[in-house]
Amino acid sequence: MKITGIKDYESKIKKVLITEDEIKAALKKAGEFINSLYDGRPILLVSVLKGSFVFMADLARQVAVPCEIGFMCVKSYFEGTSSSGNVEIVMDLDQDVSNYHVVVAEDIIDTGRTLRKLVDMFKSKHPLSLHVITLLDKPDRRVVEIKADMSLFVIPDEFVIGYGLDCAEFYRTLPYIAVYGEG
Ligand code: PRP
Repeated sequence: MKITGIKDYESKIKKVLITEDEIKAALKKAGEFINSLYDGRPILLVSVLKGSFVFMADLARQVAVPCEIGFMCVKSYFEGTSSSGNVEIVMDLDQDVSNYHVVVAEDIIDTGRTLRKLVDMFKSKHPLSLHVITLLDKPDRRVVEIKADMSLFVIPDEFVIGYGLDCAEFYRTLPYIAVYGEG
């Protein structure tokens, strides 16, 4: 995909699926969920880059319990439009997770392969506890069994962009979630 300019860029944003206000309301609920789950205990909130950078930044500001943040960068290799299951940790956390109650913030669960690998990897390092919060869940695409502890939005099988999610690295900066389409 090649973006030639602003007109071309905007023409591929087909429709807004989730508005900024809807995201804000859902973030508040997610913050309340984390606060009640940990009841004052400190947590490590982990952003899975790149897709979750916006979600994580907004979610972190809804969290009232003491909160450290951590970043890891994961790359899944694609076969067509699906991740292949080859998940590479491009950048690992700098914290030792065995000392933490870990909350993983993901942007989307699609086939589930990325999160399955991540959860297995975290569990092998024995965190004090582990929970996963995902912004988006696309259950129709699941090929690997995995469920988040909280999904902010369950969405249909459409190619979505914005609020951290990309198409060929563009559109991550849209403040809402939209359906992408060419033509
Ligand atoms: C996306 C997304 C999830 C993963 C979900 O990451 O951020 O981590 O795919 O797909 P799955 O459930 O089919 O495994 P991607 O590898 O595109 O990298 P990005 O976060 O840098 O956009």
